[in-house]
Amino acid sequence: MKYLSCTRVLSVLVLIASLGACTDEEIVFRDRELFEDPPAVALGMLGYSNLETGLTTCGNCHIGPQGDWAETGHAEAWDGLQNSGHAQAFCESCHTTNELGNTLTEPAGYNASPEERYHDVTCESCHGPGLAHVQDPSNATIPFAPIDVGVDNMQGCGECHQGAHHPFAEQWEGSGHANVTGFAAGRDGCKNCHSGNGALAKWGVEDAYLEAGATVSITCATCHDPHGSDNPANLRFAVGGVEIEDNLCSQCHDRRSEPDPTSSHGLHPHSPETGLLSGDVGWFPPNLTIDRGEIIASHGSEGNDRLCATCHVTSSTVTDAATGEFVINAVGHGFNAIPCLNSEGIPTAEDCGLSTAERDFETGCTGAGCHTSVTGVFSATSTAVARLAALHDELEALLAIVDPNGEDAGGEIDARDGLFTLAEGAYFNMELAAFGGSDRPDPGLAYTAAAAHNPFLTEQLLIASIAAVEDEYGVSASPSLVRERMLKPGN
Ligand code: HEC
Ligand code: HEC
Ligand code: HEC
Ligand code: HEC
Ligand code: HEC
Ligand code: HEC
Ligand code: HEC
Ligand code: HEC
Repeated sequence: MKYLSCTRVLSVLVLIASLGACTDEEIVFRDRELFEDPPAVALGMLGYSNLETGLTTCGNCHIGPQGDWAETGHAEAWDGLQNSGHAQAFCESCHTTNELGNTLTEPAGYNASPEERYHDVTCESCHGPGLAHVQDPSNATIPFAPIDVGVDNMQGCGECHQGAHHPFAEQWEGSGHANVTGFAAGRDGCKNCHSGNGALAKWGVEDAYLEAGATVSITCATCHDPHGSDNPANLRFAVGGVEIEDNLCSQCHDRRSEPDPTSSHGLHPHSPETGLLSGDVGWFPPNLTIDRGEIIASHGSEGNDRLCATCHVTSSTVTDAATGEFVINAVGHGFNAIPCLNSEGIPTAEDCGLSTAERDFETGCTGAGCHTSVTGVFSATSTAVARLAALHDELEALLAIVDPNGEDAGGEIDARDGLFTLAEGAYFNMELAAFGGSDRPDPGLAYTAAAAHNPFLTEQLLIASIAAVEDEYGVSASPSLVRERMLKPGN
């Protein structure tokens, strides 16, 4: 049961008539002392109201969050530390309630006054001190929690979730989610996917945090529910065991998988990953005899239960090559599949070439138990990349004959003329094969995403597009390209 009902809360006294306990099941008032006065050095932190039952001071009134939070690891953080067998004083900061996680910078709570009431990561770890609010629970005193992680990760989740054992903040900081494109993050129609605040608003969480009104990147609290959820790792949407459209990543990574004749950008895919995995992507030429969703990539099938997260969010332990000693727990929060590695073997946000020496093919591909050998999966990837590159170039050459000025106004390929042509459909498929590759250091890297997400369908789309363009416009590919295509393995 999520909320206590009025009949079960015997000692309820309605303090503010307009917020009567029987009409507002989120907030309940009680007539007994909620807390003992905290020592002044604790800077207004209250901690637990009843250590035995795990009731926080805040939880006396906010019974919804109290019930959800009690199910999370945060409510067990002290015991987890003690039971580890190697608890030391310096461990305690991140396993108790103090200035870490909120906007305070001076020692507070447990770090100022090490009492049991401050054990565990409780409400005030994130919300900050609650004394003023509890004494006068009005709008003016609300301790709003941050959803941002602050400069140098010095507020919010990142303040504890950092360091060699759990470098979530450091890895996230280098990812696209921390570095969202500014203009898209601030714009209506874009910010739902391009900002943390926009996504939360879309999902019904609005303005109940410190940065309300500001633009915040896709931070921890965007994907994770701070009070807990029924999903592993308290995610707001599941990553495993669900239909692809229902999974966390697909809430955003699912836009313009097909050409859109009504948009001036309509000839370019925009985050087509979900469509690729489910086989529902691209322009289907008339000569293509398969149905949408038919060629589901093995990566989007039931065989890959964690979907995107299998390859993009998987952790590994990096040890020193010479001594075998622990270096870092790579927690998969750079969100890169096959991440590039630095000289110590630690995943970096930098780009690199496509090779097993430069990248980690192990964690996401073989570590997940899907592939048995790194060389095998690398060679399958490079083969698919080479085939897609050759077909892409052939289609590009044909389309250059059909419409020499490409996307510029006039000709068969013109997103703004209100007409949708066969050449435009083919153009979209060509862009799909190379999606995300324009600014990569190695041109071959343009094709790795399509090669990983759905090589079979992408290849079929390109082959059928080439035939359709040749047929419709009476053009044919240059002999050298045809020869190159014939020489590719498997053709
Ligand atoms: C005595 C009851 C009581 C206690 C204890 C209490 N609150 Fe509140 N809280 C309220 C009331 C009443 C409101 C609504 C205030 C308003 O909007 O005017 C509120 C509002 C809030 C809100 C804003 C809710 C929203 O939807 O915008 C937050 C966040 C909050 N409290 C956090 C806390 C935290 C954290 C603690 C513990 C430090 C705490 N509260 C303790 C009664 C309480
Ligand atoms: C005061 C330090 C601290 C802060 C602030 C903090 N955490 Fe944690 N977190 C921990 C510790 C310690 C654990 C491990 C608890 C255990 O299992 O014993 C943990 C565990 C977790 C887990 C693992 C799942 C679970 O239920 O145990 C998730 C997910 C998580 N935290 C997310 C967050 C998010 C999101 C935020 C910010 C909204 C956050 N944390 C803020 C210290 C913190
Ligand atoms: C910088 C903050 C920080 C410090 C310092 C810290 N921890 Fe943690 N600890 C965390 C976080 C965050 C997690 C959750 C990590 C996750 O879920 O991946 C955690 C998780 C744990 C867990 C797993 C909890 C469980 O129930 O499974 C144990 C055990 C633990 N820490 C012990 C220690 C010990 C022992 C020390 C000191 C040697 C220590 N911690 C110091 C932040 C910290
Ligand atoms: C790990 C950090 C964290 C902890 C622990 C935490 N909160 Fe929150 N809380 C947040 C964040 C971030 C938000 C805003 C985003 C959201 O609502 O999901 C929030 C929102 C709220 C709100 C307003 C929206 C709502 O869900 O009703 C209330 C009330 C609240 N918290 C109370 C509590 C109470 C009571 C506890 C302890 C039982 C608690 N929180 C523990 C981070 C935290
Ligand atoms: C884009 C979404 C996303 C963002 C942003 C994100 N995470 Fe995660 N997080 C995930 C996914 C997915 C998992 C894996 C869940 C699973 O394996 O079932 C995860 C797992 C975790 C875990 C649990 C790991 C364990 O030991 O089981 C912790 C702790 C965590 N994240 C903390 C954070 C923190 C802290 C931040 C911000 C610095 C953050 N996350 C940002 C999606 C996200
Ligand atoms: C709230 C929306 C949202 C969610 C949820 C989300 N993403 Fe993202 N993701 C984005 C946006 C927006 C970008 C592009 C940021 C930019 O470059 O402006 C991005 C970027 C990325 C990138 C890097 C792409 C690049 O070109 O740099 C990867 C990889 C990625 N996301 C994977 C994932 C995975 C895996 C999940 C699920 C665990 C996920 N994302 C969940 C919105 C989201
Ligand atoms: C349904 C979610 C969604 C919507 C709505 C959306 N985007 Fe995106 N967009 C993404 C995701 C996710 C990415 C990350 C690239 C990828 O998926 O490969 C992205 C990538 C981008 C990029 C490339 C960023 C990079 O670093 O490569 C730009 C620019 C962009 N979007 C602009 C916009 C603009 C402008 C709008 C509004 C007109 C918009 N987006 C609407 C989800 C969305
Ligand atoms: C089988 C493993 C696998 C699965 C499953 C998978 N991806 Fe990928 N993804 C990759 C590989 C490999 C790349 C290419 C990485 C590179 O070029 O550095 C990639 C590239 C990307 C990119 C572009 C990243 C960039 O740096 O340009 C995004 C965004 C992305 N994937 C999101 C997703 C989403 C969202 C899902 C789920 C709908 C998903 N992926 C499922 C392996 C996978």
